[in-house]
Amino acid sequence: MSFPQYRLRRMRKDENLRKMIRETRLTVDNLVMPYFVRPGEKVKNPIQSMPGNYQLSIDNLLKEVKEVKELGIPAIILFGIPEKKDEMGSGAYASEGIIQKAVSAIKDDVPGIIVMTDLCLCEYTSHGHCGVVRENHQIDNDATLGLIAKTALSQAKAGADIVAPSGMMDGQVKTIRQVLDENNFTHIPIMSYSAKYASAFYGPFREAAESPPKFGDRRSYQIDPPNCEEALREVALDIEEGADIIMVKPALAYLDIIRLVKDKFNYPVAAYNVSGEFSMIKAAVEKGWLDGDKIALEVLTAIKRAGADIILTYFAKDVAKKLNY
Ligand code: PBG
Repeated sequence: MSFPQYRLRRMRKDENLRKMIRETRLTVDNLVMPYFVRPGEKVKNPIQSMPGNYQLSIDNLLKEVKEVKELGIPAIILFGIPEKKDEMGSGAYASEGIIQKAVSAIKDDVPGIIVMTDLCLCEYTSHGHCGVVRENHQIDNDATLGLIAKTALSQAKAGADIVAPSGMMDGQVKTIRQVLDENNFTHIPIMSYSAKYASAFYGPFREAAESPPKFGDRRSYQIDPPNCEEALREVALDIEEGADIIMVKPALAYLDIIRLVKDKFNYPVAAYNVSGEFSMIKAAVEKGWLDGDKIALEVLTAIKRAGADIILTYFAKDVAKKLNY
């Protein structure tokens, strides 16, 4: 049937009708709120390029996490900023490291919320890279795996519910699965940043986590943005190595990859609506150029429509308030 018998506008007449046939529904169940935690007390340092986000000390983090839980958001993901950084990123796997302390404080104080831990060295290394650096500025993949294993184990011991390796080292998922299994952490899922691109959208995060690389860039380990088949190979390998959740990152410029990964692998898919995606919208809203009430919902719903089950986003709290009202 076609026009004039068939008219698509008939079904768009009013909100009641529209909502009956709405195909994608974003819910708070899909959301994960990221936090940056640092040592100290009563610290709440605004992150200039990410309005409404802060570097928090554990006491203030606990307040936030309680609020997040009350909003019905099921999970948070934590990034740590250590007291001191060094060549080997030892703060990532210190038993009294900032993440380890933050996780156990949350487990004691706010039971029931899922605590994911970003598992990478770049926030802890003096050079800002995600691995061990050799004389010629090469990142030593296999030497890094040992440190990743130590970090995974110490995060699990601290009480992390899900570990999320984001360093894009080859073999990292296999290494983590092995060390967790050997230490009776068979129940802890791995959410792998499998298709993580060498993107310009991470700029504000690097201010937030104080983790920009001191030399060079991350293109020798993160995926080259024009590539698609390579992302699918990364995902296939991570699944083979034992990943439970596959992540595509960033989200907006990579919606095609989210869809392909969902269709091809039928696995739980996470998408990271990263710092730059958040900041560019916030900036336009602050200028009055975009409607802040509508834009985040539209963007996150699009990420879900593309195939994401889980969305990591700095909008999680704002959007949960709107979804709950
Ligand atoms: C650590 C990591 C990064 C992000 C998440 N984990 C930074 C990077 O790879 O440079 C970025 C998140 C964001 O931009 O919101 N490897």
